[in-house]
Amino acid sequence: MPKVSLTHAAAALSRRLERLGRVSEERGATTRTFLSPAMRRATALVGAWMRGAGLATRVDRAGNLIGRTRDRRGARTLLMGSHLDTVRDAGRFDGALGVLLPIAALEVLRSRGLELPFAVEVLGFSEEEGVRFPSAYLGSKGYAGLLGRADLRLRDRDGVSVGELLSAGGRRSPPGPAHPRRELIGYLEVHIEQGPVLGELGLATGVVSAIAGQTRARVVFGGRAGHAGTTPMALRRDALAGAAEFVVAAEALARRRPPLVATVGRLTARPGVANVIAGAAELSLDVRHPADARRLAACRRLRDLGRRIARRRGLAFSMDVVQDNATVACSRGLTALLARCVRGRQGRSVALASGAGHDGVIISRLAPIAMLFVRCRGGISHHPDEFVARRDLEAALAVTVDFLARLASRFPR
Ligand code: HGY
Ligand code: MN
Ligand code: MN
Repeated sequence: MPKVSLTHAAAALSRRLERLGRVSEERGATTRTFLSPAMRRATALVGAWMRGAGLATRVDRAGNLIGRTRDRRGARTLLMGSHLDTVRDAGRFDGALGVLLPIAALEVLRSRGLELPFAVEVLGFSEEEGVRFPSAYLGSKGYAGLLGRADLRLRDRDGVSVGELLSAGGRRSPPGPAHPRRELIGYLEVHIEQGPVLGELGLATGVVSAIAGQTRARVVFGGRAGHAGTTPMALRRDALAGAAEFVVAAEALARRRPPLVATVGRLTARPGVANVIAGAAELSLDVRHPADARRLAACRRLRDLGRRIARRRGLAFSMDVVQDNATVACSRGLTALLARCVRGRQGRSVALASGAGHDGVIISRLAPIAMLFVRCRGGISHHPDEFVARRDLEAALAVTVDFLARLASRFPR
């Protein structure tokens, strides 16, 4: 087998990212949601690339794609990967980069005849973004055996529950963990930064110190539907107006308390008709902060603000937490090794806290985690303009190859 250069491997990686980015459930946009036909096509495509790299592949009961270097079961294993699902009208790097880059790194090592003294499992998680269902990380939770009853009860817009989806194969209990902890060396996730810092510093890669905690909640205002033309303003119980006041109040609170962020990404009014006063309004709420106590205090404040708005307007109010993840620190040991590889390639390494959530939050309950951030143009993400320059793909690939080689050197042959 001819030696594969990093430049050649980065070019092939770029083409694969382009190709995968065209697998979508929406014409003209990149959208792949949990267990959709598009996700099955993406899993099949990436699975073929994994097998081409010499990995044995399988898809677990949560729809996660798993590619494992051939070795005896129970060997010490390094996990690498990210998610294959996307937000709506996404870019082609968020998640996908972290699945395809490890495959390319293993192809480079194989072409150099470097046999790793441990197994590597490359993971393409089936659901991280929380688009089809209100809670995120369903894929990595399934892989880690951490799907709980509340997860299984979650329903999508068509009323289908996670439990019904996963028991389609006849088995009702949620999947157990893929590995006992003792087998796992750790988890490395390569991911675009989704922020501007590496770009401002002129660096292609950086390491992650921690992944910010996040709370997702379902907020509902209940009022009284009525005729838009005949109901005097003073007699209205307008749920949408109350919800709108809450959206602005949440934004104002976060602006006053940086680095707190609070986002209402979805607002649904019912009956949602131009000439009817909204009788109900349902909102998604996403609250994040690097310090858990500050995040939880902000959630309490937002609940109080919602109650006040509702009381003043004669509305009903509820705020139900759907997902709550504490801030997760990356492993010092693995991150120090990763930082050495970054310094070896670009002279310096910076550590960034991640405001975005990642599958590492869940996998950290199975194994120590490390994350490599890759510069993305303008920090743009969750948008079709998301972009990573070819030279930065090559830089991230080089760091990952070095990381695997250095980790291997720590294992007895
Ligand atoms: O929402 C996030 O932070 C991630 O993109 N799932
Ligand atoms: Mn992501
Ligand atoms: Mn994302």
